[in-house]
Amino acid sequence: MIIVIIGAQWGDEGKGKVVDLLADRFDIVSRYQGGHNAGHSVYVGDKAFVLRLLPSGIIHPDKTCVLGNGMVIDPKAFFEEVDQIKEKGVEVTPERLKVSSRAHLIMSYHRALDHTSEERLGNEKIGTTLRGIGPAYEDKAGRRGIRVADALSPELLKLRIERNLEEANRIIVLFGQQPLRADDIYNEIAPLVERLRPFVCETSHFLASARKMNKKILLEGAQATLLDVDHGTYPYVTSSNPTAGGASVGAGIPPHHITGVLGIVRTYATRVGEGPFPTEMLDAEETIAHLIRERGNEYGSVTKRPRRCGWFDAVATRYAAELNGFDSIALTKVDVLDELEEIKVCVGYEIDGVRIDTFPAVSHDLRQIKPVYETLEGWQSSTLGVTDFDDLPEKARSYVKFLSESIGVEIGLISTGPERDQTVILKDSVMEGWFAG
Ligand code: IMP
Repeated sequence: MIIVIIGAQWGDEGKGKVVDLLADRFDIVSRYQGGHNAGHSVYVGDKAFVLRLLPSGIIHPDKTCVLGNGMVIDPKAFFEEVDQIKEKGVEVTPERLKVSSRAHLIMSYHRALDHTSEERLGNEKIGTTLRGIGPAYEDKAGRRGIRVADALSPELLKLRIERNLEEANRIIVLFGQQPLRADDIYNEIAPLVERLRPFVCETSHFLASARKMNKKILLEGAQATLLDVDHGTYPYVTSSNPTAGGASVGAGIPPHHITGVLGIVRTYATRVGEGPFPTEMLDAEETIAHLIRERGNEYGSVTKRPRRCGWFDAVATRYAAELNGFDSIALTKVDVLDELEEIKVCVGYEIDGVRIDTFPAVSHDLRQIKPVYETLEGWQSSTLGVTDFDDLPEKARSYVKFLSESIGVEIGLISTGPERDQTVILKDSVMEGWFAG
């Protein structure tokens, strides 16, 4: 069994908790795109883990975790995270953590270029995480990237750094910054690459062999559908493909070996960074946004930036369901809406008075959109920690059903709090089958 988990909105839907829950039933958890721009918070007892680069399964001592070929890896960030997890008592060895030899490395000049690129864009900036993600993927597509396998050869590593830095320094100097020195970069990265060597693996072969042995594999998407470089709100996107097709390429798994796709949807929407957000709560709704931000702790787990908050957008989520082919949805953060008198759901878009039901390709059009809302009554009582669907207030149950119907996909799991056991699994759902294994 191979299941892909994907955020259906603009990220931060609560994937960490769901992956952590499902990881119990799986043998291997693999990431397939992105890098340490992600930020998954997982709470286990009194311990809080913030995972950026490593799959959420790493917290489970008996699981093997994989960083797939589609990822961009900053070795410094990798070992900072490994050390942080070890300090909390979790064993991390090359036997249970495998890094693809085909993944690309994020170098310090990528970080510098991320800064200059944002500076150059001024008011049009993307609002990136400044981790060097975009420039590393640019080098990959430009066929000058440094892959993990290349870096294992000190001569090749040195040569590639020197060659790439010539070009990078031209831009860095243009922006009034000191040029970087190839020797400094090499001396910093070479010992980290040596430390990485035992973790390096032909991960697609490893995953194919595991599948043949009937091991269960979870493919964990980072970022989310509307941040996908092809399908998201371009250019306000990340530089990889978090969508289901990206899982096949980025983990090196044949598409027809993937047995199911799970979408993570939050009861409202958020966005960090710039870019269109049709249902954003602005002006008069700023107090509701504030309430949601505080109750939902909607601050970036990596950058600590306050997240922009908005109503649930059924048009955008339907688009995500269609693109990814969700078989089941995990609906998170129901409890965050407990106090609201009324809850709005965007059921359609209008541009210049004309109704559209598809998700526009152009960011400019998305900014012109007037959302068409349906207003539902809030339940105004606590759902925190509820574990049985029938124990949810009637209006909360209606809200869940309304969302499921408007997306056109079953909701198989409802999260009612950050802890593992604050979860409802719906009977006879596809999701229940995945949990049963
Ligand atoms: P980058 O991935 O750092 O290049 O940033 C590109 C866009 O994706 C920015 O709007 C970021 O805020 C957003 N982004 C990147 N990673 C995440 C994430 O894990 N959650 C939410 N937004 C993200």
